[in-house]
Amino acid sequence: MNHFLDIHKTKPDALRNIIDNARLIKNARAGRPKGALDDEQALTGHVVALIFEKPSTRTRVSFDVGVRQMGGQSMVLSGSDMQLGHGETIADTARVLSRFVDLIMIRTFDESVLHEMAEFATVPVINGLTDRTHPCQIMADVMTFEEHRGPIAGKKVVWTGDGNNVCASFLHAAAQFGFDLTFTGPVQLDPEMEFVGLARNAGVSVQIERDPIKAVDGADLVVTDTWVSMHDAQSSRERRHNMLRQYQVNDELMRHAKPDALFMHCLPAHRGEEVTSEIMDGPKSVIFDEAENRLHAQKAIMRWCLDI
Ligand code: CP
Ligand code: NVA
Repeated sequence: MNHFLDIHKTKPDALRNIIDNARLIKNARAGRPKGALDDEQALTGHVVALIFEKPSTRTRVSFDVGVRQMGGQSMVLSGSDMQLGHGETIADTARVLSRFVDLIMIRTFDESVLHEMAEFATVPVINGLTDRTHPCQIMADVMTFEEHRGPIAGKKVVWTGDGNNVCASFLHAAAQFGFDLTFTGPVQLDPEMEFVGLARNAGVSVQIERDPIKAVDGADLVVTDTWVSMHDAQSSRERRHNMLRQYQVNDELMRHAKPDALFMHCLPAHRGEEVTSEIMDGPKSVIFDEAENRLHAQKAIMRWCLDI
């Protein structure tokens, strides 16, 4: 069963194949048929369940549109409206849904929900974000970097701010795609050491540098994310802001990266907090390409899951 649960749990050749197919799918829709991968009928007769236990704009719309563009049908389900949110087990939900649909995408809190869904479903399951990881986002990010700058292998990526779920999937991608990653942020918000170790064991360099200016030296890509994620307690907001303020991405910080460094953010962003509007809307920013590429990357992921 081709579940797409995490980047480090998916083989490197499958990941590379997904990125390459995503580019072909994108080119085909843009009317550039060279090597195009025609996807208009790929999901004909298929139904995809999209389950959300947290809010979403990009994941929700890009999966929904992706299924429709491939000739399939999707249903967006809110966890709280399902029996899942009222005591039915995840295992039973997985077994029931598998009798109706061909593919399940779930955005949830604890990753144990995702894993239980995958264990009991008899159709492929895709991780649409958990408290711990966000693999679909980083597949779109790798695709976006390569569109602008060529192969990401050997490049220096700097993550600044909170070592959160998106940062975790960047560490997984560093291991699988062979790029170096420097984390800069307060010690209290370091990424999980298990994931740092995983990337280092794969032979890539993972540095932790508390000084953001030093961290971005030689960076090909600077990435950040919100300071308060959906799973973080709102009561931690002020404490987090105080710790993270010096890690804001602004003109001064980007001046210390390589002159052609790119800026990425998975969005939604909080302008004036983790990043300034000057950077968001400036020439180094590829944030809206990232958002668009969620569509193409996830179409390739769904095709890989279903082997079509
Ligand atoms: N980047 C991302 O996953 O956005 P949404 O929360 O809007 O889905
Ligand atoms: N780290 C953020 C990502 C949102 C796409 C969150 O989990 O809220």
